[in-house]
Formats: sequence, structure tokens, C-alpha cells
Amino acid sequence: MLSLGNAFSETEVEDFVRRVRERLEIDDPLFSVEPKFDGLAISLRYEHGRFVRGATRGDGERGEDVTANLRTIKAVPLKLRGAGWPDVLEVRGEVYMPRAGFEAYNETARASDGRIRPLVNPRNAAAGSLRQLDPRITAKRPLAFYAYALGAVEGGKGMPATHSATLKQLHAWGFPVSALVGTARGAAGCLAYYARIGAKRDALPFDIDGVVYKLDDLAGQRELGFVGRTPRWAIAHKFPAQ
Ligand code: IVH
Repeated sequence: MLSLGNAFSETEVEDFVRRVRERLEIDDPLFSVEPKFDGLAISLRYEHGRFVRGATRGDGERGEDVTANLRTIKAVPLKLRGAGWPDVLEVRGEVYMPRAGFEAYNETARASDGRIRPLVNPRNAAAGSLRQLDPRITAKRPLAFYAYALGAVEGGKGMPATHSATLKQLHAWGFPVSALVGTARGAAGCLAYYARIGAKRDALPFDIDGVVYKLDDLAGQRELGFVGRTPRWAIAHKFPAQ
């Protein structure tokens, strides 16, 4: 699994977009613009439309097999909807704990006379809950999931040519995709999205620590490639720490 480069300022975003424009020789590239969910990255593998294995990101190369725990999360489809999925489909996304679930869990913990330990924050809660040895414990934790990328694909009719169309397809097959995901043109469009999501940040039902810009055109992504595990076609624009 990959990792993202970070931008902390408007200038760094403008530099990122300029590099994309120059390398691809296009004027005004379209980006998929997405929240940067603050949970735990996971990869889900489907064979012939059925969930067969799920792993954490780990060090990027090797993660932990958390299949049994993922099966307890309602937002993770066990069987894909519709038709036309490839023989093998790997979907990447984030397991997170919605703020309301986190608060409710801790309310119960506080009333439990020390029997239930409170959770520290939603991100640690998501990670700790997924790493439980007993899936019955994971099942009691209010976890959710958003899909944000594709991993391996084998067989079938092929997939869409853009990232945004890929996410729409994943949604049609039953994966939750955030309604805050959209598209934006150029640095100006990306920065406007950052401002719009930043203004909503405190009111969102889940934690985010920034937004992510991904070149929408997948052929352009392939052309740009990677530096190590970091794509040249995507960047995370971080919010100030909360
Ligand atoms: S895309 C290059 N999209 O950010 C493609 N990652 O360093 C790889 N993350 O821990 C990731 N929200 O879990 C992508 N909308 C989003 C994301 C996202 C959160 C996390 C991811 C990983 C880190 C990437």
C-alpha cells in the first residue's frame, strides 16, 4: 500500500499542481478531492464478488490479517451488489469510529465502574478495535468504513478510466464512499475545496486531518508514477493539528 506526500501551505499545493501540469503538459488538470479520514488504512480483497481477506496497511509491505474483525463491520460489504465486478478486486479505504459512536462508547465506559476502559480518541479506538484477538469485541465497537482507492484488479471487463468514476463504481457495488468526495480543477479548485471542508471540519460526524487531491485521470497517474511508495499524482493537504 502507498503513502501520501504532505502539503502544509497553499504554496506547496500550487507547487504540486504545477509539477503535474508541467510533467503532463496539460493546462488545468482535474483532481478528485477527498477528506483525509483519520482512522486506520485497510485493504479488502474480493474474489468473485465475495469478501475473502482484509489486512491493515502495516508498514506498507506487510500488514496484519484482520479478516474476522472486518467481517463484523456492517459498512464492509461481504458480498458485492449489482454485477460486472472483476474476478479479483482489492479496495482500499479507512476504518474509522464516528464521533457519536466514540462518545456513546465512552459514556458507557464511564458508567461501568472501571469494567470498560474508555477509548483515548477515535483514531486509536479504530486501530485498537481492529486489532482485537476476539472478533466479538470488535463487533461491539461502533466502526465504519469509507472506500477511497483501488488496489489489485484481475479479470473481468475492466474498470473506469478516472478515479472519480472508479469511486462511483465502487459505491454502486456497495462500498460506502463519502458524500464529501468531489472533483476540482487546478490549484484554485483544490484550495477552495480545502477551505470548504476546513469550515465544516468541526461539525463533521467523523475526524479528518486534512484533504487529499488525486489526479483524476488514471492514464495521467500512470504516466506520473511514484517516488518510492509516494505517488507524484496525489498529495495530502493537512489541516492544523486539533
Ligand atoms: S489515498 C496514494 N485517500 O492517508 C494513495 N488516503 O498516506 C494512497 N487516508 O494512512 C492513499 N484518507 O489511510 C487516500 N481519501 C484518502 C485518504 C487516505 C485518509 C490515509 C491513508 C493512509 C494515509 C496515506
